[in-house]
Amino acid sequence: MQYMLGKHDLTGCRFLDIGCGSGIFSLAANMLGAEYVESFDYDQNSVQATLAIRQRYGIAVEKWHIQQGSVLDSQFMQTIGMADVVYSWGVLHHTGSMWAAIQAAAQKVQPGGVFALSIYNEVHNPIMTSARWLKLKRFYNQAPTLVQRGLEALYAAAFIAVDAAKFHNPLTTIQRYNRDEQRGMDFWHDVRDWLGGYPYEYANPGAIFTFLHKEMGFELMYLNTSYGSGCNEFTFRRPV
Ligand SMILES: C[S@@+](CC[C@H](N)C(=O)[O-])C[C@H]1O[C@@H](n2cnc3c(N)ncnc32)[C@H](O)[C@@H]1O
Repeated sequence: MQYMLGKHDLTGCRFLDIGCGSGIFSLAANMLGAEYVESFDYDQNSVQATLAIRQRYGIAVEKWHIQQGSVLDSQFMQTIGMADVVYSWGVLHHTGSMWAAIQAAAQKVQPGGVFALSIYNEVHNPIMTSARWLKLKRFYNQAPTLVQRGLEALYAAAFIAVDAAKFHNPLTTIQRYNRDEQRGMDFWHDVRDWLGGYPYEYANPGAIFTFLHKEMGFELMYLNTSYGSGCNEFTFRRPV
């Protein structure tokens, strides 16, 4: 997060975490000295996880406000204040209306503030295109449990084959996942996350740049592109 924001210190900043998930980035913002952190998520379990983190770290309610809400709910968004940093990692492509969500999030950036987001990359490689991912995820989500377990086994087998083809030891890779060194979730959660994360949308970096720069007037400060179907990371500044 420090790398994306180009800052190691958020002293005096108002930080808005849209789709806070476990709350880990909001916690980081608190630790970096943010004056006020506002976190929300559509999912009640995520809200509970974030509340639990706030309690575990003993952070005052007045400094860190957490609630349930959707970035697509315009009435709810009217209740959210402007922020110096709007942060939304891996969220807006899961809302079912990605461009509307990007616009709603960008509107909460104070002039002079920044908007950091990550969005799934659009891929067209011969083996797996983004359009095929979309079909696979849709199918997985509608399938009966037994079929879902079968798809998970197939996905895991494909993962192991690809890892072995790169001359890695798949067992070591999986053990690294399970020790939380890879993505903060064990291997099977990661398999289910890749197959199940739906709604799912994607965009190439140029499309995000065109939307936020050409249509909304933001300036690009940072870009980290993915080789595959993972997330591209962007940080934009809203001119004063
Ligand atoms: C992949 S998780 C990312 C969580 C967190 N940002 C992180 O990086 O750890 C996506 C999150 O977006 C949330 N989400 C999906 N649709 C949303 C919406 N319309 N408004 C707010 N949050 C939403 C999900 O509930 C989920 O917690």
